[in-house]
Amino acid sequence: MEFEVTKKTPLYNALSEQGKRIYLPQGIFHWSGRAKKEAEISGTLGSAFGYEKDFIEGGSSEWLPLYLEDIKNFTKLSIKEIVPYSQVSGLEELKTHWKKWLIKKSLYNKDFELDKLNRLENFTTTPLVTSGLTNGIFLCCSLLLNPEEFIISPNKRWGNYDNIIEKLLGAKIKSFDFFIEEKFNIQGLKDAIYEIAKNQEKITLILGFPNNPTGYVPSKDEMEELVYMLKQSQKDLSKPIFVLVDDAYEPYIFSDNAIKRSIFYALHEIEEDVIPIKLDGITKEMLLYGGRIGFITVGLKPQWVNSEEELIALKTELTNKLSGLVRTTISNSNHFYQALVIKLFKDVGMEGLIQKRDKVTNLLKKRYEKINQELRKIDNSNISVDPNAGGFFVFVNLNPNKISANQFADHLLRKYKVGVIPIEKHNNNINGIRIAYCSIDLTKIPEFVKRFNLALNDY
Ligand SMILES: Cc1ncc(COP(=O)(O)O)c(C=O)c1O
Repeated sequence: MEFEVTKKTPLYNALSEQGKRIYLPQGIFHWSGRAKKEAEISGTLGSAFGYEKDFIEGGSSEWLPLYLEDIKNFTKLSIKEIVPYSQVSGLEELKTHWKKWLIKKSLYNKDFELDKLNRLENFTTTPLVTSGLTNGIFLCCSLLLNPEEFIISPNKRWGNYDNIIEKLLGAKIKSFDFFIEEKFNIQGLKDAIYEIAKNQEKITLILGFPNNPTGYVPSKDEMEELVYMLKQSQKDLSKPIFVLVDDAYEPYIFSDNAIKRSIFYALHEIEEDVIPIKLDGITKEMLLYGGRIGFITVGLKPQWVNSEEELIALKTELTNKLSGLVRTTISNSNHFYQALVIKLFKDVGMEGLIQKRDKVTNLLKKRYEKINQELRKIDNSNISVDPNAGGFFVFVNLNPNKISANQFADHLLRKYKVGVIPIEKHNNNINGIRIAYCSIDLTKIPEFVKRFNLALNDY
């Protein structure tokens, strides 16, 4: 594949050396595809098949993947839905459902916002299936970042970003202080962008709301300010800005003051080359942590292509590049869970899924309200709680001159039998405690905070 259309867009130059090299060779896919149509007897498929009766007692005459009989005892899904390999980029049916899901999550109204809906539908790639969001983050960072290149992230971020970006890929994270006076530090982000732009031809950010570890989600005003800043910076610098939008906690927004949907949509709407890449998945959205199914969807800009053919070619090329990365790392994603999610979409339906999940969301919302309410009662100048509006966590900053977060967590656990995650990174201005209220029953929250406060008073 020559990637002719991609080369005409800002995407190609922004790829890492690896991203430029990688592609999915057609080799076996070409020959097995042709054999499917043209061959009378095919010996192309690298998985074992046979007539069921030849390997299962009382089996049918159906030509099936050879399987161990007992697996049927554990699932109602058919053998064909769980045993074979999935396509490299994921099951087509699942990808189609996920695209519709992504459109539904945009909250665009088809009576009033048809243009926006059409744009979203046409100018996004088909979601590509990954092995959870972690894998999606790794793949996108591999696609974009050379060793030593910078990606910008708030100082309070999911710790695994550091592992993937710095330790595994050898790229670097440019941190900025997330909050200033309890608000998103948009100026800090802007400064980071301008600094990185001095030495890089593209800027890459990773952002996601609700954020882990703080639970922060921007308000409408903050989001508008953020989008405006990104637009202006892109125009001023004339360099593409990629935004990896980590939507792991997308549906869990509990405050009326916060935006109700992913920033992916607002970034996708703007004309400038602020290029959002959406990373989402079933992990938290469908409460299937061990299912390991995530998705990568790239937001495209209408001005990059001159025709419908070019648009189709661009999507094919990008899917091919990402598929090359999937093929060389995990080969393809878990078939069983892809099939399970297809069933959920088909049998329960999107509305049904949302309704069922609402029970969980309401439970978490009550905990969110309770923990904030209880934490507000603590009168101690050595702590401050970061703004939070959703997700699974709250973050309590500790005065670094008085209390070490690591020591405090140890003290809390030993003396008060309460477990939390300390994050202490003084060079990133962080010294605090992440509380995962998602895993504390509502009735235990007052006791949890009481003990937290007692531990604070020991300092
Ligand atoms: C912000 C964030 N992104 C991504 C992930 C990883 O998601 P997955 O389990 O789908 O790989 C997590 C999980 O904790 C997370 O908190």
